[in-house]
Amino acid sequence: MHNRPMAEPVIPLVDQRNGALADQLGRPLRDLRISVTDRCNFRCTYCMPKEVFGKDHPFLPHAALLSFEEITRLARLFALQGVHKIRLTGGEPLLRRHLEGLIEQLAALRTPDGAPLDLTLTTNGSALARKARALKAAGLRRVTVSLDAMDDAVFRRMNDVDFPVAEVLDGIAAAREAGLGPIKVNMVVKRGTNDQEILPMARHFRGTGIALRFIEYMDVGSTNGWRMDEVLPSRELLARLRAEMPLVPLAPTAPGETAERWGHADASGRHDPAAGEIGLISSVTRAFCGSCNRARLSTEGKLFLCLFAGHGYDLRAMLRGGAPDEAIADAIARIWRGRSDRYSELRGTQAAADGEPHVEMSYIGG
Ligand code: GTP
Ligand code: 5AD
Ligand code: SF4
Ligand code: SF4
Repeated sequence: MHNRPMAEPVIPLVDQRNGALADQLGRPLRDLRISVTDRCNFRCTYCMPKEVFGKDHPFLPHAALLSFEEITRLARLFALQGVHKIRLTGGEPLLRRHLEGLIEQLAALRTPDGAPLDLTLTTNGSALARKARALKAAGLRRVTVSLDAMDDAVFRRMNDVDFPVAEVLDGIAAAREAGLGPIKVNMVVKRGTNDQEILPMARHFRGTGIALRFIEYMDVGSTNGWRMDEVLPSRELLARLRAEMPLVPLAPTAPGETAERWGHADASGRHDPAAGEIGLISSVTRAFCGSCNRARLSTEGKLFLCLFAGHGYDLRAMLRGGAPDEAIADAIARIWRGRSDRYSELRGTQAAADGEPHVEMSYIGG
């Protein structure tokens, strides 16, 4: 990739704030999701099914992982290209040893305007009770916690390692006490598995200041045995919620937002901020590719342009091959400019079916 012909202009490390960098569909690069480990202590059936991710599964060796210095170097170059938000994911990011060290380095980065990045993390919550304070002290801004049910038996079955709901709730409480807010909770909804938990989850988080987001079960990777009849379309989910609790639509907070926001309403039908809001992430029934501003950096340093991509671009080879910043920044810009991915919009069409097999979400990050 860095064997670029000499005549080709290098993109200078300059201010990209005027939106100079856009892909083939005019979409800017704003959000970088960095997977810091491909391992997880859960085996959620929709993500890392035990039959595939068993005892002998070949996870990446440590030497293959980007080091914290390598991640920070790339993140700085991405920030210069317009990235405002960095999300650490996995696998389970809190399994990466001394993650606070990476957070400290990332927290020191600035956008070309001199603003700190929106630095956040997606976690299953299992280690949050222990780590929330240290994460906050290192400079993490906020967290998003995955939780698929209030009912303990349902949750233990879905994570498939018998992990109890109460410990995730303790983790959420610790994150709140540490000031890692606004906190979001993500629930993947599978019809016939946890759709009976939609209302209990909504009741639990209403009025807590935590935004609960319902995610349509997606056909990510190639191991979860996805079937359309297990997807509960967000419209149907919304109707179920509204039968019990009044909700009013809210405006998006940022361009390219994944979730459609709905606010809990008071008796007069107006949004009651104290009661809070819910979100609908309708990746299957209402694709949001048109405004997708997200890039993903895999655990071993490959740049993926879509959650459903079959391959990534090897930035680690550039880092370890001694490429200068300018060459890496140039590669990032050229890769983004060439991007035309919109898998969710094409889902079910021949164009989508013709693609390479998808990589696993635990590898490139949610
Ligand atoms: P916030 O800024 O905290 O709202 O982050 P976010 O809206 O990007 O949400 P988050 O990272 O929590 O993503 C929630 C879920 O949305 C993920 O776990 C995925 O299931 C889905 N998702 C996120 N980004 C994409 C995307 O680019 N494409 C698709 N199809 N789904 C996505
Ligand atoms: N469908 C939808 N979301 C998924 N996630 C993982 N697998 C899937 C899937 N098949 C998301 C969930 C989880 C995060 C870590 O990844 O949001 O909370
Ligand atoms: Fe782990 Fe999250 Fe995947 Fe569940 S969804 S197996 S918690 S990475
Ligand atoms: Fe972006 Fe790909 Fe998701 Fe569409 S399917 S929103 S292009 S990551």
